[in-house]
Amino acid sequence: MQKSFAEQTLYMRHRPILEVVLGYLNDDLPKVAIDCGCGAGNEVQFLLDQGFTVYAFDQSKQAEEICRTRFKYANRFIFSNNSFHDYPFVEASLITAFFSLFFVPEKQFFDVLENIKKALPKNGIFACNLLGINDAWIEESPHVFLGFNEQQLKDLFSEYFDIVYLDHLQEERPLASGLMKFWDIFTVILKKK
Ligand SMILES: C[S@@+](CC[C@H](N)C(=O)[O-])C[C@H]1O[C@@H](n2cnc3c(N)ncnc32)[C@H](O)[C@@H]1O
Repeated sequence: MQKSFAEQTLYMRHRPILEVVLGYLNDDLPKVAIDCGCGAGNEVQFLLDQGFTVYAFDQSKQAEEICRTRFKYANRFIFSNNSFHDYPFVEASLITAFFSLFFVPEKQFFDVLENIKKALPKNGIFACNLLGINDAWIEESPHVFLGFNEQQLKDLFSEYFDIVYLDHLQEERPLASGLMKFWDIFTVILKKK
């Protein structure tokens, strides 16, 4: 049976973008973060090491098993086996959703964004990836995945957030399984107005 993403990426280094994200977080905000779709917990580990209390959720049972074992002795770690749409967001200064938010179906997507927005205080940071319109998954399954162009992405967030960082990658890169795919993907860091 194919391994889950969490199993394939267990004990990998955190994503470097997380360090960029922390550079935008004001020092006066409480060190409380939520990692959405946390997988094996590689970003969780880094946030714990930086002194954060970390709430994390993932709908995958393998991710749950890995995180509950990996962080058994971490007293600033709170895991929930939830989906984006039914996760009860608590107030947090930082919310990350790396390579996970684009799995949320369109009919839930805007409610999820609303919940994320409500959970952040002024100057709170939300960092995520969203797919561009030319991503291979959009072309294969246009009814499953939501894709954006740069203007649509800006319009999606600009009412409530300052877009402090935006990167747009369009190239073939491997999935965690090693399979190549064409990625058209945005990385955004947003600061709540
Ligand atoms: C590609 S992995 C990314 C994991 C980690 N955030 C990272 O950056 O490496 C996507 C993760 O999101 C989880 N996921 C996908 N759809 C989800 C949903 N609707 N609700 C919660 N978790 C979800 C998957 O189980 C998986 O662990």
